Amino acid sequence: MGVVDGRHLVLVGLMGSGKTTVGRVVAQRLRRELLDSDFMIEAREGRTVRAIFAEDGEDAFRAIETDVLVEALAAEDRAVIAAAGGVVLRPENRAALRESGARVVWLRADPATLVERVKGGVHRPLLDDDPRGTLERMYAERSDLYREVADAIVMVDNRSVNEIVEAVLR
Ligand code: S3P
Repeated sequence: MGVVDGRHLVLVGLMGSGKTTVGRVVAQRLRRELLDSDFMIEAREGRTVRAIFAEDGEDAFRAIETDVLVEALAAEDRAVIAAAGGVVLRPENRAALRESGARVVWLRADPATLVERVKGGVHRPLLDDDPRGTLERMYAERSDLYREVADAIVMVDNRSVNEIVEAVLR
C-alpha cells in the first residue's frame, strides 16, 4: 500500500464502472476520506446533478465539476477521489490531475457491463435515452482520455468489488 501514501488516489472511468462503490472500500482500507465529485457538487449547489443539468445545462455542470475537482485535489489530507465520468473531457481537468501528482486509476469496463450497472441510477440524465448507445459512444470518445490521465488501468468486467479493490491497492 506504500505506493499510494502521500498522494491522492483518483478513480476515473465511465458511469457504472464502480468508482463510488470501489472508492468507498478503498478509502476505508487506506483510512482516508472519500471525496466523490458528484456528491461534492450536490452539496455545494444544494440541488441534484439532474437538476443542474435540467436547469442550467451541461456546460454549467461541467464548470462546477472543474471547480470541485480542483478543490478535491487541493485537499490537504490525502484522499481517495471518485471523479465523475466526464471529468476527463476538459483539458484543464486533465492538466489539473497531472499537475497534482495524484495517482490515477482507470476502472475500465466494457460498455455491455456498464449498461447492466447503470440501471436504477438517478444522477445520470445523459443516459435517459438509449443508455447502451450512449455508453458505447462515450467509450469510443473517452477511452483515449482515460488512458491519457491514468497511471494504472484496472479491468472490472466479471470481477467482484473486493477483487477490484485489491487490484486498485496493488
Ligand atoms: C457523467 C457522469 C455522472 C454525472 C453526470 C455526467 C458523465 O457521474 O457526473 O451524470 O458525463 O460521464 P458518474 O460517473 O459518477 O456516474
